[in-house]
Amino acid sequence: MPFGDDVLSGLSARPKTLPAKYFYDELGSLLFEAISALPEYYLTRAEAEIFATHADEIVERAGLERLVELGGGSATKTRYLIEAALRKRAALSYSSIDISEAALEASSRALRSEYPTLNVRGYRGEYFEGLRRMAAQEGEVGGRTLVLFLGSNIGNFDPPEARRFLKAIRDVLRPGDALLLGTDLKKDRKDLEAAYDDELGVTAAFNANILGRINRELGGHFAVRRFKHRAFYNEPDGRVEMHLESLVDQTIGVDALSAHFSFKAGETIHTESSYKFSIEEVEQLARFAGFELETSWFDAQRRFACNLLRAS
Ligand code: AVJ
Repeated sequence: MPFGDDVLSGLSARPKTLPAKYFYDELGSLLFEAISALPEYYLTRAEAEIFATHADEIVERAGLERLVELGGGSATKTRYLIEAALRKRAALSYSSIDISEAALEASSRALRSEYPTLNVRGYRGEYFEGLRRMAAQEGEVGGRTLVLFLGSNIGNFDPPEARRFLKAIRDVLRPGDALLLGTDLKKDRKDLEAAYDDELGVTAAFNANILGRINRELGGHFAVRRFKHRAFYNEPDGRVEMHLESLVDQTIGVDALSAHFSFKAGETIHTESSYKFSIEEVEQLARFAGFELETSWFDAQRRFACNLLRAS
């Protein structure tokens, strides 16, 4: 089982790690929706502001006939683009690839009923696998494609993975197709750290839920309250890191893995990296993967960028 295998290898590693993709079970997806509404977590609102202001121009530029979204969750921001596209053309196809079955079903159902001329298809799975299945099923059908990879989801990949991932997207596109890439920008430590350590403790709950998920799905015996949420900007590496820090010396069994994991007080599990970008970095990443950065749109406070990458 992939989750079990990844938990076993991550908690056996030094330092301990867990892959951030496992945050998103049903509860985790709901907690992320709540994070998006927090005053400190500006990312979602900044990106929505960009779409609210520039959707027509974005759609015009991209010249799209087909939208493909990676990890769109509830597809709230996507609606701006769908509506802008449907103002220009009678019909549109929208394919969504998401790791969360619950998020995928809910958003597909809502989109179908809100936009009767939208041809909605959903692929449950991880990005690579979902892209492959989508390319196999939809092949060359549909015209000019715009892939959406929003919310600074790209930031969860280490730089080599990010490069590989953009190349994989480029591989299913034709020259002239495009990728709209949402990237959170480098900024003051204070603003970045507040976004990942909110006063209400919603991000702390989101982080700790990964231990809850191990308990629920793998028979783990974590006492979630014996771990503390930590978030800080690792400026040299250009990323916000989230960790779960053990408050005491403890050994935790996980039944389905027939394994025990020991923690020293103060030892952490690294659960997420959220890389922050400069436009120069976006440009380099684009070029490396076979795209040209054509335009970047910003929110009024220049906290976030939506970048149109054209497949060369
Ligand atoms: C959904 C991956 C973009 O890294 O900012 C929110 C997830 N983690 N708060 C991010 C997240 C902590 C989020 N992404």
